[in-house]
Amino acid sequence: MDKNIQVFLNKISLFSAIIATLVLFSILIHPPETCFPYFSPHNPLKFPSSTCEFHHHPRPFSTLEKKNRRLWSTSAWLNKVNSFFIVFMDAKKHNSVIPSTTILSNSSKSLCLLAGAGQEVMALQQIGVSDVTAIDLVDSPPLVSRADPYYLPFFDDAFDFAFSAQFDIVLFPTRFVAEMERTVRIGGFCLLLVEECTNKEVRDIAQLFKRGILVGANNLTFSGSKKTRIVMRITNVRSY
Ligand SMILES: *[C@@H]1O[C@H](CO)[C@@H](O)[C@H](O)[C@H]1NC(C)=O
Repeated sequence: MDKNIQVFLNKISLFSAIIATLVLFSILIHPPETCFPYFSPHNPLKFPSSTCEFHHHPRPFSTLEKKNRRLWSTSAWLNKVNSFFIVFMDAKKHNSVIPSTTILSNSSKSLCLLAGAGQEVMALQQIGVSDVTAIDLVDSPPLVSRADPYYLPFFDDAFDFAFSAQFDIVLFPTRFVAEMERTVRIGGFCLLLVEECTNKEVRDIAQLFKRGILVGANNLTFSGSKKTRIVMRITNVRSY
């Protein structure tokens, strides 16, 4: 009897050792996926933000789609998109300061900084601007990618148009503006939407731009609050 138990126990331990070895081999053959941050300088919207997302598309994306469909049909969302729509339509008209120049056109490569959940991206797409890149500190796929606004992962002169409606809340305005004008080409435009401000305050903001000149500022009502729209044109060759 004792011997039978001994044999039985031996068999169990041999069996366990085999299972353990098999598990170890299977881990060696199929190592757990390791994620690397992934960022395309050209159009981060179209790419996953880490290599892991290549493997796990279907499920997360279908729930994300549902979540977005809900969000995008709320009246708060639609009102905000509509407010941006009006701002961008205005930017598409020929401007009186530089005749025959539009601040924004369908073919403008556009950058939105601190774009939040992406209402302005949707507004730009709706008016026909197809090449829109949007970033914020937190991503909001598929409209907004994650990037540091103070160290933009884009080349110099990569864009024709840069926009932000969050300039009021940035912690380092000088750095923010420097990155904005670095990434916009000569002849391109930067548009800031800020809390309604005086001419003096507009000039102070304009002076943060080392390569840009003020081409227009006007007050408007945006989503029920008073705002000032400041348009800068990038002109000077970089001086550093
Ligand atoms: C820009 O795109 C919009 C929307 O697709 C279109 O209605 C409009 O005609 C386009 N404008 C130009 C100048 O191509």
